[in-house]
Amino acid sequence: MKNIVVVGLGYVGLNLALIIEKSLKKHKLDFNISGFDVNKRRVESLKNNHDTYSGASYLDLESSKIKFINSIEEINRKGSNEQINFIICVSTPVYADHYPNLSHLVSASELVGKVLRKEDLVVYESTVYPGATEDICIPILEKTSNLKSKDDFYVGFSPERINPGDSLHQMANVTKLISGQNEKVLEMVYEIYKKIFPENIFKCSSIKVAESSKILENTQRDVNIALINEFSHLTEKLGISIHDVLDAANTKWNFIDVKPGFPGGECIPVDPYYYIELAERNGVTAELAKAARNINDNLFYLINKIHMGMMKVNSNKIALLGLSYKSNVPDMKNSMGIKLFSLLKRDTVHPYDIIAHDPLVDKDILKNDSGIEILELDKINNLGSIILMESDSAYVEYGIDNLINKIEKNGYFYDIPGLFYKQREQIIVAGINYWSF
Ligand SMILES: NC(=O)c1ccc[n+]([C@@H]2O[C@H](COP(=O)([O-])OP(=O)(O)OC[C@H]3O[C@@H](n4cnc5c(N)ncnc54)[C@H](O)[C@@H]3O)[C@@H](O)[C@H]2O)c1
Repeated sequence: MKNIVVVGLGYVGLNLALIIEKSLKKHKLDFNISGFDVNKRRVESLKNNHDTYSGASYLDLESSKIKFINSIEEINRKGSNEQINFIICVSTPVYADHYPNLSHLVSASELVGKVLRKEDLVVYESTVYPGATEDICIPILEKTSNLKSKDDFYVGFSPERINPGDSLHQMANVTKLISGQNEKVLEMVYEIYKKIFPENIFKCSSIKVAESSKILENTQRDVNIALINEFSHLTEKLGISIHDVLDAANTKWNFIDVKPGFPGGECIPVDPYYYIELAERNGVTAELAKAARNINDNLFYLINKIHMGMMKVNSNKIALLGLSYKSNVPDMKNSMGIKLFSLLKRDTVHPYDIIAHDPLVDKDILKNDSGIEILELDKINNLGSIILMESDSAYVEYGIDNLINKIEKNGYFYDIPGLFYKQREQIIVAGINYWSF
């Protein structure tokens, strides 16, 4: 337990490293913890106690003794036989064609393999399709280290369930799944993880079961959201609102409470493709998951609504509010708000003046990566319409009156999450058209 190296210091890795440190300090254990990331800029900013998107504060980082490193060689093993526990949390995205991109995982395995010694333990936390840890990662570790897994070193898998922006379900208080190559390895993983997640551990019967559970959980969520999105198209045709239908349906004890919308982030729009790819390779068609992805990734139903509204107004100015991938987080990975902004900006048939606001995203990173400039909310005015993409509490605090005052009479307020659904009468009385799913 003495030495821990977290590999990949993104949203998951940084939060995990901080939790590990906190828990081990609480147990008054003597330990060393390092955090390794190939991204030099990320490591430099963490060394300066600055985190742009994982939610760690200056104080969290300043008071931590995590050694942030940018080169695996900084794990100096010369003259020391001390065992190391590596926890790998690198990103597992998909390519533009939706094929799983395991390149970060492969490279992390190669780097760890270089410094791996006998008795070390490697736990993967990155989301993968079932079989990837044993068929892809372990052979790389064995090849680069010249050691044999199960005999010389050991491998486990523990999927991460962190839910950004959700203060109820955080890393430290949700059930943690763990698995290992065999009973002995499972116990080794358990010995470590029980100190970090003392009351919430579930031992999976194999690595494949743990891997499968993670992609099933997120595919199920994607399918559930897609059903509500699809249903909302029907309710609109019927002249009723999906939000009213959900309020009614939610009174049933086993109804699954899911809101319509466009899921973004590292998990929901990505993990189903890991399932789809492996399913198809095994002759399973995964039709439901594919249909759900198509529904949830399709912004054209909304874009048509925007065109129809904007045809009837004087100003060609649209403000898109909410550019991160979900409410109350600064993370912009796979943000559907950014995708919508780009699609509207590129639309030469409808040359809108489209401007953006978000209360939390890092303005410089957004400008640098997507060319989108964030304006101050107070300076946004004379709009044909507002498109609200997220339920950020900042917009509730700003107030619906202040928001709709920015829109010309008979302009449009597109409320994607239905944040102001209950105030829709007030919005309509003020002379603004209201649209939500
Ligand atoms: N973000 C979430 O909410 C969330 C929740 C549950 C599970 N997950 C899963 O956890 C994993 C990590 O997700 P994340 O959101 O933290 O990703 P992230 O993109 O925020 O961070 C990944 C980090 O890994 C680093 N990295 C890439 N290749 C590396 C290498 N070879 N060696 C060292 N570092 C490397 C990157 O520079 C980056 O800082 C993914 O598999 C994701 O699907 C994420």
